[in-house]
Amino acid sequence: MPIHVVILAAGQGKRMMSDLPKVAHMAAGRTLIGWVLEAVRPLQPASTVVVVGHGAEQVVSHLPIGVVPAVQEEQLGTGHATRVGLDSLEDVGPEDTIMVLYGDMPLLTHDLLERLADRSDDVAARMVTSVFEDPTGYGRVIRDDDGLVVEVIEERDSDDVQRAIGEINAGAYAFRAKDLIDALGAVSNENAQGEYYLTDVIGILVGRGERLEPVETTPDEVIGINSQDQLTEARHLLQARTNQRLMESGVWMLDPDRTYVDDTVTVQAGARLYPGVHLEGNTTVAAGAQVGPDVFAVDSSIGAGATVWYAVLRGAVVGEGCEVGPYASLRPGTVLEKGAKVGTFVETKNTTLGEGAKAPHLTYLGDATVGARTNIGAGSITVNYDGYEKHPTVIGDDAFIGSDSMLIAPLTIGDRAVTGAGSAITRDVDADALALERSEQVEIPGYSQRRAERQAAKKTED
Ligand code: UD1
Ligand code: CA
Repeated sequence: MPIHVVILAAGQGKRMMSDLPKVAHMAAGRTLIGWVLEAVRPLQPASTVVVVGHGAEQVVSHLPIGVVPAVQEEQLGTGHATRVGLDSLEDVGPEDTIMVLYGDMPLLTHDLLERLADRSDDVAARMVTSVFEDPTGYGRVIRDDDGLVVEVIEERDSDDVQRAIGEINAGAYAFRAKDLIDALGAVSNENAQGEYYLTDVIGILVGRGERLEPVETTPDEVIGINSQDQLTEARHLLQARTNQRLMESGVWMLDPDRTYVDDTVTVQAGARLYPGVHLEGNTTVAAGAQVGPDVFAVDSSIGAGATVWYAVLRGAVVGEGCEVGPYASLRPGTVLEKGAKVGTFVETKNTTLGEGAKAPHLTYLGDATVGARTNIGAGSITVNYDGYEKHPTVIGDDAFIGSDSMLIAPLTIGDRAVTGAGSAITRDVDADALALERSEQVEIPGYSQRRAERQAAKKTED
């Protein structure tokens, strides 16, 4: 039977106290809605609709191709939102499954959705429930004396006895299409919030003699995000899941509680992650690499056996066996080839260091190409910007850039060339040449003796 998925995400999320629409908040590498879509994906639904409203443009920008947005102009409740979603579904057969999920449930797992989608026991509706120690804010599941679900009561419409019930409605349902469509038509907005509640569908179906099957799960799969502290709790749980998955696959972590890896990141077995590591976006870490302590890397790759510590990497490629840090900043367009080294207080941008090239201390390299095995002495910088334009510096293989060289671009320095320490190099240097740019040193013999005499004379004057 085809499955169609409707995800409700039109609410503002007032309780988040944020301008960002609720489902666009990030947790452990994905937006809240992104996590829900990830859990849905393996179901291979015939169609997926996301109902948007508040911050619609922002939410839509996070939707993958093939997921259809439907705009709910006014947020009249989850029942109304579901109706808007249904209007955008195409080719729905009466016996098809319609799964309705809320976009603020990032902890949903694919396994749970598989259980929810299971139609072996054909009922009008299935609904995820869980028993919470503190059910405050959630709709409560009301069962009859035989333990059968009869309805869901929102907290604001509940009495004291109902409020004491720990079993909550998680906000994930699978309906037989015709039953959902029929029952939605009967939902009214006569309740504490004046909204059309999707949850009323449950009571309506049961009232018609249909059976409702609860799918029970643990709280950590279904917490709904309504506030910043719940977002933090969700982030924590999601990160723990990712770290667990990585450790099971053979990644070493000194302290998983202080290791922050986006779900979108790839870390190979045998990599070692130290505390304070943040790996984000499209980052990859190869086997045998040591990353951290204290590394922030986004959209970067770290090669096999490389060591990167106390460093910031943005759009950088660190090759096999490279060393980076402590205290290095690799900006976009940085490429370190095999065995290259970028050391302490070094910044690079749009720069390639060839195999085995080294910039060990206090250097800025921008718009530069550095040949294999070339050494960049401490304090040297490429002067790549004249206030108007950026200019390139090209240095050949096996060159030796003396300490504190100012390489004033555009500039080409040949293979095996040497620049003298403290030189401001403004013209190209041929292969094998030494370029020096220094005023001659002056030496005044016996100077300190004369200085001491002058100081003594001054003292007697005083
Ligand atoms: C809802 C359920 C409650 C359940 C809880 C689980 C209803 C009436 N109540 O309450 O039983 O325990 O979720 O977390 O369904 N939305 C729209 N359009 C609207 C209203 C809401 O798209 O007009 C979306 C929201 O963006 C959100 C989701 O529906 O993603 C749920 O809405 P929310 O306001 O968070 O519902 P709760 O009060 O948490
Ligand atoms: Ca909610």
